Amino acid sequence: MSTSHASQNLYIETYGCQMNVADSEIVASVLEEKGYKVVEDIDSADVILVNTCSIRENAEQRVWGRLDVFKQIKKKKPEVIVGVIGCMAERLKEKLLEEEKIVDLVVGPDAYRDLPNILESAEGGQKAINVLLSKEETYADISPVRLGKNKISAFVSIMRGCNNMCSYCIVPYVRGGERSRDPYTIVREVEELYQKGYKEVTLLGQNVDSFNWKAEDSEENISFAQLLEMVAKVSPSLRVRFSTSHPKDMSDDVLYTMAMYNNICNHIHLPAQSGSTRVLEQMNRKYTREWYIGRIDAIKKILPNCAISTDIMTGFPGETDEDHKDTLSLMEYVGYDMAYMFKYSERPKTYASRHLPDDIQDSVKSQRSTEIIDLQNKLSEQTKKEDLGKTFEVLVEGTSKKSKEQLYGRTSQNKVVVFPRHNYTVGDYVFVEIVDCTSATLIGEIVTK
Ligand code: SAH
Ligand code: SF4
Ligand code: F3S
Repeated sequence: MSTSHASQNLYIETYGCQMNVADSEIVASVLEEKGYKVVEDIDSADVILVNTCSIRENAEQRVWGRLDVFKQIKKKKPEVIVGVIGCMAERLKEKLLEEEKIVDLVVGPDAYRDLPNILESAEGGQKAINVLLSKEETYADISPVRLGKNKISAFVSIMRGCNNMCSYCIVPYVRGGERSRDPYTIVREVEELYQKGYKEVTLLGQNVDSFNWKAEDSEENISFAQLLEMVAKVSPSLRVRFSTSHPKDMSDDVLYTMAMYNNICNHIHLPAQSGSTRVLEQMNRKYTREWYIGRIDAIKKILPNCAISTDIMTGFPGETDEDHKDTLSLMEYVGYDMAYMFKYSERPKTYASRHLPDDIQDSVKSQRSTEIIDLQNKLSEQTKKEDLGKTFEVLVEGTSKKSKEQLYGRTSQNKVVVFPRHNYTVGDYVFVEIVDCTSATLIGEIVTK
């Protein structure tokens, strides 16, 4: 398949969520097919692609900053092609070409198969763009080129897009509608990873619980719980994780499937966003505080050792002190192991930007955000203290940054543990007893079991 591009070096920089990380691996695959070679050194690049995120204003600011840096590179080496791909490409479309002269091409998340053509135009001096969204594209047949440093853990995209229309969120606009990928291609990809020595896969979607694949030529219909089981059966020594679960759709079926398979990790990322039913309604999340608590209680009952993490947003339009307190009390109730916390950022086109004035002062957003972060630090510390004296199976991921004599890995609950190396190596499973902890890490000793 070699073409005139045989010697072109491709450098890809990725921002945003795990879906973007997975997409960059699709992009690398599409372009390696055409003879491009992925490089890690930007100075040796003939093509620079930046895979972008639009979720919050500051995510886009970071990309504009990078484009300034690419401008300097292009000054020295004018033949370098600079492309913007991903969510920001989809949101801004032609505007990116108009506003930033150094950008040669713009490609949205459903148009990556067209990248070779687009690049050909750009290399011929013609700026090019493809931001068509698709109802079907899942890149099901493409084998991603794994770009991650660690060769034991991989992301596997199981669906694309989102149908939820949370009132603050740009994702449905930049990623299009929800579609599920053929589960047989998912299992095949996971089997290939396992054969290559991978020990962990993370199944990715904006709302994995609504995974629903219908066969074209039969009555067959596969749910997320069924898919999870198919993937878990690939091998008992392959860990399975998934993200993100949506509280409105997370079913007991999924929890029972997790309980049945030891290799499905005991961790659920269940973004709450807010603890106030009034705010949740304004967010169009389609669940109440009570419903969310019901889901948490179900997790705690069916999976007593399951870690729970979340996303929380502060300063949503109209959020009162009372609403904010509801969020704090929900966090206390759940006792999250980990949380991602954000200040509300108004996004163009969304329902909130059109109908709900961004009326919470930044100082108030910051104050509430600080309170939430402080509380989460306390909760994270508490959950780590509860692990003291317990023994966990840990998958070794690498050598500790602080000492060559120490390894680090993760428990099923997704907590990082550091412990003495002995003769173990990356990819091994070891049993580790927790003897101490810092604010971010568990510290353990290997036990033989
Ligand atoms: N599909 C996932 C979320 C993906 S976006 C879900 O529904 O849980 C990741 C997180 O970014 C969201 O959970 C939310 O907390 C945050 N986020 C999304 N839009 C935002 C906005 N406009 N301002 C601030 N945070 C936002
Ligand atoms: Fe955005 Fe809501 Fe979809 Fe998550 S579920 S991606 S927050 S619209
Ligand atoms: Fe960002 Fe797009 Fe993910 S907007 S959070 S990279 S789906």
